[in-house]
Amino acid sequence: MATLDVTDVNVEPGTLPEKMAAWVIREEREGEPKDAFQIEEIEVPHPGAFEVIVRVMAAGVNYNNVWAALGQPVGVWRYGDHPEYGHHIGGSDASGIVWAVGEGVTKWKPGDEVVIHCNQASYEDIEVHGLDPLAAPSQRIWGYETTWGSFAQFTKVQAQQLIPKPHNLTWEEAASYGLVYFTAYRMLITQCNMQAGDKVLIWGAAGGLGVFATQLCKITGAEAVGVVSSPEKGKLLEELGITGWIDRNEYKGMMRTGDENPEQEKARFKESRRFGKAVKEILGDDPNIVFEHVGQATFPTSVLTVKPFGKVVICAGTTGYNLDFDVRYLWMRQKQIIGSHFANAYECYRANELIEQNLIRPVLWRTMGFDEVGEAHQLMRDNKHLGKISILVGAKEAGEGKTAEGPGAIYAEVGN
Ligand SMILES: NC(=O)c1ccc[n+]([C@@H]2O[C@H](COP(=O)([O-])OP(=O)(O)OC[C@H]3O[C@@H](n4cnc5c(N)ncnc54)[C@H](OP(=O)(O)O)[C@@H]3O)[C@@H](O)[C@H]2O)c1
Repeated sequence: MATLDVTDVNVEPGTLPEKMAAWVIREEREGEPKDAFQIEEIEVPHPGAFEVIVRVMAAGVNYNNVWAALGQPVGVWRYGDHPEYGHHIGGSDASGIVWAVGEGVTKWKPGDEVVIHCNQASYEDIEVHGLDPLAAPSQRIWGYETTWGSFAQFTKVQAQQLIPKPHNLTWEEAASYGLVYFTAYRMLITQCNMQAGDKVLIWGAAGGLGVFATQLCKITGAEAVGVVSSPEKGKLLEELGITGWIDRNEYKGMMRTGDENPEQEKARFKESRRFGKAVKEILGDDPNIVFEHVGQATFPTSVLTVKPFGKVVICAGTTGYNLDFDVRYLWMRQKQIIGSHFANAYECYRANELIEQNLIRPVLWRTMGFDEVGEAHQLMRDNKHLGKISILVGAKEAGEGKTAEGPGAIYAEVGN
């Protein structure tokens, strides 16, 4: 497997080959990623109306395809186009070259260099045309709730998923950030309308979402406190322009476990207050925005710490989905909780421009070969990864694809 060459497709843009190499998950082999992902020869898909076939140059690895491999919490098989094809080709981030366009596509042509955002929705759903594609009943995450994702030589996407590839990034850098960066952008810029002078508390600030939340605060002129679990991660945050950071190991007692007795509850509350004081000391005031994704362990502290009339914006519950907190701190102080999920095409486009302008930089840990897709997901599954992983697909080696000067990605170890 180590010698598999997928970098030559033997056809020019505009012409599709019959077959391609793809990493495929099938229902009968769901399980550990290293076994569930297998390379197969698959028919190259053809574009339907308003669809585009992109030759994948590099693909980004996300946790969603660890879940797809395991078949947990549910298998992907009932969703999107899975029933039609019976296979799952995962991958929700990619950079690549437009190779063929379907009927109705006028904005893109073979040869265009793109990155792909992962939100899909049917253009027939009315929500797409006046509310938000994220509100559409047909809304799906490409490469998770659909097949034809990016761990293959070619991928099939809706034309609205394409955005210009930043010229100042290599293929692997351009494939690394979409899912997490665009999510952080919607949370802070759209949902919280973050402005200069705002004060923000960011949990997991050196993680996938957090490195972008931190940079968005910096370029907006908002002050931010990042929470991390090591001084090394704190150092990375300093490089990204954070106002200050806190090591959560010094406040272990504030974490909600869910089985505390009243005495332990009291002690936990005291620790959360001590943490809030430390946040205030750095920011000069309580934060008016809290960037949440940790969930059960931190949510009571988030609600307590946010300033009256402030916002807690949340997109995940990594430590647990069942959140409980003292609601008096919410209603008496008129605080808001805002749920957020990925981003729409316009938000992705706007966020991507900031990368082209060298204002936001991807943070990448490792670039791996196409034959290592299963291994990359296993590293994640075993929590041995230390940040974002990109996979070379069409690109022969790391460093290709950059056509303009720029600082490129930050290379750092930022995992758990
Ligand atoms: N809804 C959406 O659209 C969307 C999009 C992207 C991601 N997500 C979800 O968001 C979550 C985070 O994603 P990510 O890519 O940022 O993951 P990540 O790279 O693993 O970063 C998460 C960070 O959270 C911190 N953390 C972990 N356990 C914690 C705890 N018990 N208390 C406090 N902090 C803790 C860790 O930082 P420290 O150890 O340094 O504190 C970790 O680096 C995942 O559940 C992901 O699936 C949702």
